[in-house]
Amino acid sequence: MPELTKTGIDGLDSILDGGIIEDATVLVSGNPGTGKSILGLQFIYHGVREFDEKGIYLSFEENASDIEQAAESIGFDEWGTLVENGDILVYDKRELLGDTDFGGTLDRLLEAFEETEYERLVLDSLTMFELFFETEKEKRTYLLKFSDILKENGLTSLLINEQAAVFPETDIGLENFLTDGNIYLIQTPTESGVNRYIWVAKMRKQNIETDIFPMEIGEGGITVHERAAGFSMMDQGSSLP
Ligand SMILES: Nc1ncnc2c1ncn2[C@@H]1O[C@H](COP(=O)(O)OP(=O)(O)OP(=O)(O)O)[C@@H](O)[C@H]1O
Ligand SMILES: [Mg+2]
Repeated sequence: MPELTKTGIDGLDSILDGGIIEDATVLVSGNPGTGKSILGLQFIYHGVREFDEKGIYLSFEENASDIEQAAESIGFDEWGTLVENGDILVYDKRELLGDTDFGGTLDRLLEAFEETEYERLVLDSLTMFELFFETEKEKRTYLLKFSDILKENGLTSLLINEQAAVFPETDIGLENFLTDGNIYLIQTPTESGVNRYIWVAKMRKQNIETDIFPMEIGEGGITVHERAAGFSMMDQGSSLP
């Protein structure tokens, strides 16, 4: 039985049959505001706090101070301290986009990945990362190379993907096939706000629960409600957005 990396997200680890296989690369997809970044922050924060596993957080979207504010606003109060003491390594927008030559940035990143003390990684977002590559072929090659490097360096990784929940009639991006696992975050509007759902559509080598489960975002981050309220894709058809 391979070693598992617990996400530290209440409810999600049991859907995953214990966690994510160590060194796996998992795609986290969803529309804007579905909680992708919060899930990433929580994976890294709980990794350090609960499992003593250091993490790397790469963001093409925000500056380090915005990331810290986002983390603290959701209740990850020690985020700043953990960044200061090196338990969490943040590469923010400024650093990632600062070099005129993205190749140079990539080289620096690869050096950081080789620091064996880090065990988890979040890339927010893969969509932005992919903009650096011009052709589909180049993108595919880099994505494969990138996930190989993450694996070789023992990093269990979440790649955030700005993509709506996928149903058969829509175009399925290449990254969905190239990664070890696939988690979708879904939100549907209600009169009083939104209903939120999480769907683990794929996790290679693992016996997962493939139902869609309700989740909430609140103080402390994401909570997934298992068992009782899980429902099957089959009952829903493709009526979800
Ligand atoms: N403290 C909180 N309590 C409840 N809900 C919150 C809280 N903080 C944030 N949220 C909810 O989480 C959502 C944002 O989540 P997040 O930033 O992770 O989304 P995202 O999927 O990364 O979006 P984007 O694609 O725009 O980056 C907000 O829309 C908000 O509704
Ligand atoms: Mg985000």
